[in-house]
Amino acid sequence: MSTVSKNEFRDAMSSVCAAVNIITTSGDSGRGGFTATAMCSVSDEPPSLLVCMNRNSAQSALFFENGRFCVNVLAGDQASLSGHFAGGMQDMEERYAAADWTDLETGCPVLKDALVSFDCELSEVHEAGSHNILIGKVVGIVRSENNSALAYFDRQYLNPAMALSQE
Ligand SMILES: Cc1cc2nc3c(=O)[nH]c(=O)nc-3n(C[C@H](O)[C@H](O)[C@H](O)COP(=O)(O)O)c2cc1C
Repeated sequence: MSTVSKNEFRDAMSSVCAAVNIITTSGDSGRGGFTATAMCSVSDEPPSLLVCMNRNSAQSALFFENGRFCVNVLAGDQASLSGHFAGGMQDMEERYAAADWTDLETGCPVLKDALVSFDCELSEVHEAGSHNILIGKVVGIVRSENNSALAYFDRQYLNPAMALSQE
């Protein structure tokens, strides 16, 4: 069986169009947050989703200890926030100061005007290569009136609603 290199795989994944999410946590161990495209639905009974988080992330322990997280799906005009939460701003207070937040069931930060936010209890963690798969049981949902999505494709941010409106 031939092998595929890490870079070949990463280049190929740049052809997969994905939604952009800010994954937040808050609790006794503190507040954290990072940008992730590796998020998808797992089950509707119980409602659950997964997020893949790099095992080398300095925030891993924070997420495990808090035992809860919130997936905030970014809207078309929130691309700058993705950069802030992907290492662009190292200070967590500074990251959070760049937007308005509220909370729902778990107390994790819920981004104002995100397309949709899924508030989750961390129910399972699985190791998978370089990443941990965090499975969250969804305990709260908030949807906004905002209906323009943000997509990440070919290592660039796109607003599909704007592309469609140009046709
Ligand atoms: C568009 C985009 C998508 C990303 N998706 C993921 C992901 O799914 N999982 C992950 O662990 N990191 C992902 N990252 C990287 C993390 O956001 C980043 O490495 C992480 O925030 C490390 O920086 P920090 O520890 O300062 O937050 C992504 C980054 C960008 C810009």
